[in-house]
Amino acid sequence: MRNNEKSNFLYIKNIFESISNEYDFMNDLMTFKNHSKWKEEIVEIAIDSSPKKVLDIATGTGDIAIKLSKIKGSIIEAVDVSENMLKIAHNKIEKLNIRNINFKICEAENLVFEDNHFDIISIGYGVRNFTNLEKGLSESFRVLKKNGKLLILETSIPENPIFKLLYTLITNIYVPVIAFIFSRKTKAYLYLLNSTKKFPPRRKFLEILKKTGFKKVETRKKLYGASTIYIASKK
Ligand SMILES: C[S@@+](CC[C@H](N)C(=O)[O-])C[C@H]1O[C@@H](n2cnc3c(N)ncnc32)[C@H](O)[C@@H]1O
Repeated sequence: MRNNEKSNFLYIKNIFESISNEYDFMNDLMTFKNHSKWKEEIVEIAIDSSPKKVLDIATGTGDIAIKLSKIKGSIIEAVDVSENMLKIAHNKIEKLNIRNINFKICEAENLVFEDNHFDIISIGYGVRNFTNLEKGLSESFRVLKKNGKLLILETSIPENPIFKLLYTLITNIYVPVIAFIFSRKTKAYLYLLNSTKKFPPRRKFLEILKKTGFKKVETRKKLYGASTIYIASKK
């Protein structure tokens, strides 16, 4: 990792270490609870491939991994760089008595898994935090089986001017206000908002996925384009 990448990585990691306790609550507030429904959709897409080996990258507090664990016969590897986020995820699976998830500290850019290993890889609201987007995606490509699928859920900016304006008002006013009221960590949430603005628009991100090697890429817009599900196939 180069010096600027290292300091970016530490900055992002520290943000998630600091907001882990209220992350789930804030996520519900910021997305008006819609994130849960879109994560269920990720699982429904995954079920179509009857996956046995599944990887959830940037798992955070384990929301998607827990939903995926309901797929019969599946083993879920769930990785993240934040110990505090993973602690919360771990407590959740203990309470729910879930036995088919293994949590690991691991960077998306340096996955500790062998080539062509997973049937499905999911990444929920994680890619925009990667220290090196292209490297993170090519690592996913490497560990995915030939007929495997990468499922990404990520924020995006609506194209329709009215929804774009609404989106701008919500992200620039509503989110900072609730972040201040409920967590006092406004700076951390401002980072999250900025990362949304800096993340490549839908079409550009599609090109990046194709450049990484993914063949068919399908998108599903959610809430007028405020989030997008990307379904990318390795072959
Ligand atoms: C916005 S949270 C998403 C958590 C969860 N997937 C969800 O959908 O609610 C982003 C997560 O990405 C993790 N993260 C940031 N950079 C990462 C990287 N380079 N490799 C793996 N995880 C990373 C953070 O620690 C954080 O838990």
